[in-house]
Amino acid sequence: MTNFPVEKIRADFPILAETIRNKPLVYLDNAATCQKPQSVIDSLVHVYAHEYANVHRGVHTLSVRATDKYESTREKVRSFINAASDKEIIFVRGTTEAINLVAQSYGRTNIQAGDEILISAMEHHSNIVPWQMLCEQTGAVLKVIPMTTQGELIYEEFERLLTPKTKLLAVVHMSNALGTINPVKRMIDAAHALDVPVLIDGAQAIPHMSVDVQALDCDFYVFSGHKLYGPAGIGVLYGKQALLEAMPPYHGGGDMIKRVTFEKSEYAGLPNKFEAGTPSIADGIALGAAIDYLTAVGMDTIAAYEAELLAYATEQAKQIKGLKLIGEAAEKGAILSFVLDHIHPHDIGTMLDSLGIAIRAGHHCAMPVMDFYGVPATARASFAMYNTKQEIDFLMQGIQSLIEVFG
Ligand code: ALA
Repeated sequence: MTNFPVEKIRADFPILAETIRNKPLVYLDNAATCQKPQSVIDSLVHVYAHEYANVHRGVHTLSVRATDKYESTREKVRSFINAASDKEIIFVRGTTEAINLVAQSYGRTNIQAGDEILISAMEHHSNIVPWQMLCEQTGAVLKVIPMTTQGELIYEEFERLLTPKTKLLAVVHMSNALGTINPVKRMIDAAHALDVPVLIDGAQAIPHMSVDVQALDCDFYVFSGHKLYGPAGIGVLYGKQALLEAMPPYHGGGDMIKRVTFEKSEYAGLPNKFEAGTPSIADGIALGAAIDYLTAVGMDTIAAYEAELLAYATEQAKQIKGLKLIGEAAEKGAILSFVLDHIHPHDIGTMLDSLGIAIRAGHHCAMPVMDFYGVPATARASFAMYNTKQEIDFLMQGIQSLIEVFG
């Protein structure tokens, strides 16, 4: 994609001009968190300098200004994921909080002893632990869709595990540890045929592809702002309006009520019912700036460019003797997990850091995935729209040099 304006995009991200250990920064830890364009940084500064007050509470001009800006992000998110209504966009701290909200609010109301919750073998801890907690609280049973060594879910096993006992399917759209993109539309349709609601963990998918929640027909879709080039501390729970209407609040407090007496409280409507307490106001507004930025570049354009980066990196990695890729699904996002013979991933991470290259080494909050592959950890390079083929060359040269020294 020779016409992708990567240099222009890079110039919008000030941190990419940093040097690390006297080397130009090569930032390949985007699955952990993405860097921020100047417009997002400016938005945060602008809010605190000119627009900051509490939202939904004041009649004074600043509060109205902050509320309008904060609510304008809700509309931007709605449009970005094509939700039917902005009542379906609940602001939370991030993906983890969104899943816990669904587990405790939807789950505690609708799931009982003996019911089954279906997840997959490649889930992040945040799409495992909240369901385990719910199972402990209710007596429900957690079932796990197995995967192949390629890192693909075994679809026939999914069909086998999806039964009248299943009361919820919670599955990752794109795996943070493997890069696998799951056939979520097909899975949602299969689940709906048995009236099973579906939560999609979109934390990794959302910065890499366009997501249309109405086309997917998912019941819940969750993601974090910080992986979407926006601030940390703000995230989104999308839920179908009818489901959200029927769910009880998760947190109680200010902003989520209509009326409170000591005898009883009456709750606010959507989306406020799920947004107790002062929210992350400036972060919410700046998430709107991130969405503006991405919309201007175009999610399909980003997806096409990143597919090229991934193909280039995969081809190079396969030529390195002693490097084993972890996760080779046919449908993959821009993540390259790997291990090297005789070199621990933490040492790979440390040594690459000395070259200015930032990757993540560890279990990636997906310990069951590590157990499946029989490794304690992997090294993971994860790409974003501002990465270049030259940076991939630096990564591969770095890996080669450490194999020569330590392999
Ligand atoms: N879940 C994030 C990652 O994959 C933090 O690195």
